[in-house]
Amino acid sequence: MSKPVVLAQSAAMRQRSLAERAAGKAIGLVPTMGALHEGHLALMRRARAENGFVVASIFVNPTQFGPGEDFERYPRDLDKDLALCGGAGVDAVFAPPAEEMYPEDFSLSVDPGAVAQPLEGMSRPGHFRGVATVVAKLFNIVLPDRAYFGQKDAQQLAVIRNLVRGLNFGVEVVACPTVRESDGLAMSSRNACLNPGERQAALCLSRALNIAKDLVAGGERRAPEVAAAMAEEIVAEPLAELDYAAVVDPDSFEDVEKLSRPALALLAVRLGKTRLIDNELLEPAGKAGKKRI
Ligand code: PAJ
Repeated sequence: MSKPVVLAQSAAMRQRSLAERAAGKAIGLVPTMGALHEGHLALMRRARAENGFVVASIFVNPTQFGPGEDFERYPRDLDKDLALCGGAGVDAVFAPPAEEMYPEDFSLSVDPGAVAQPLEGMSRPGHFRGVATVVAKLFNIVLPDRAYFGQKDAQQLAVIRNLVRGLNFGVEVVACPTVRESDGLAMSSRNACLNPGERQAALCLSRALNIAKDLVAGGERRAPEVAAAMAEEIVAEPLAELDYAAVVDPDSFEDVEKLSRPALALLAVRLGKTRLIDNELLEPAGKAGKKRI
């Protein structure tokens, strides 16, 4: 597939989008921070299938990283990413320098609301404010009809949905399933930071989520019991340090007590310097049960 055009300036990006829109094309946006893997590429292919013009943004957004976090360490390889975007059918890559997104006099931010408060919000203060702010800017620059986000970052997805509803962005948010390695590890740009021992230990996340699913399939309806079983599996892994294990409502992200409706099982775990998150939907009725209705 042909090479995508690379745009670094928001005015040029917006002009290009307006021209494509005027030519009758729907615009699909896939926001990323680069270091692309199959998870990102699945979003791009889906955008390609559903839109006339596909934009991927590549921007390691400084405002969503906390002081002690991995902004400097975050993997970057623009040339490789551009080739991968081309292969996935992306038409344009918006890759602005930091000054373009945050000029010196930039001094506002988007409040991400209540859904941003628990879990990631507690562990990473300011993270979702940075995400909501950069995504609002990207929506205004790229003017997409549809924007594609991964279920892998479930709370981020809820924050974006809330942002779109709350600030009346005319953007359809499309959620895409988590892409995993063959051994179950959810793909993440941060997996590249794991040493071989940590990579092996990282399997405790998908193992713990499978335990949660099995418990629910076996009839367990007490959410705190399910969360405790996940925590136990992580704690049993010597290289892993549990940040949180939780079972929450998929929209509000509030803790659930009884599993009477689908809920999200969520994990955040540290392996050395690297922090990984993962989640699975728990469906108490079971898929077979739903089909019978
Ligand atoms: P990044 O971590 O690069 O992820 C970009 C998109 O890819 C997100 O929507 C994320 O959920 C999705 N994604 C990552 N790993 C995935 C996987 N294994 N399967 C499916 N989708 C996956 O998320 C961000 O960047 C940033 O916060 C961003 C939204 C770009 C704002 O800066």
